Amino acid sequence: MGVSAIIYLRGGFSIAANCASCHSVSKELTGPALAGFEKRLPVTQLYLFIQHSKKAYRKSKYLARLKKEYDIEHFSFPSLTKADIDDIRQYINAASLPIP
Ligand code: HEC
Repeated sequence: MGVSAIIYLRGGFSIAANCASCHSVSKELTGPALAGFEKRLPVTQLYLFIQHSKKAYRKSKYLARLKKEYDIEHFSFPSLTKADIDDIRQYINAASLPIP
């Protein structure tokens, strides 16, 4: 627990506006299911990937491999701040918790 409702709403709103056309937390759509993404991607790489995906491909073998696999160059969202991305992280983490 520990994610406040307001953060959860902000994160959910950002995802709906920017990411949900290609991502779900639990299902693979155009992009991978995002549940557990923090185990695959360190947070500094996540910020870079969301804000400037081209730079992130050069820094992360994992992301370069994913790009090859999906054959899609990820959008960059330079207008999303680290704080916005933190809200998105919190949302995904909370939404990934198993239903009790
Ligand atoms: C047009 C479709 C599309 C949109 C919109 C999109 N993504 Fe992606 N995403 C992808 C694809 C395809 C990949 C696979 C890697 C690649 O192609 O670079 C990916 C990969 C990722 C990954 C790494 C995968 C993992 O879980 O290990 C993360 C994290 C991610 N996206 C987050 C986001 C976030 C956050 C947003 C919104 C701000 C977003 N994406 C918007 C298509 C999209």
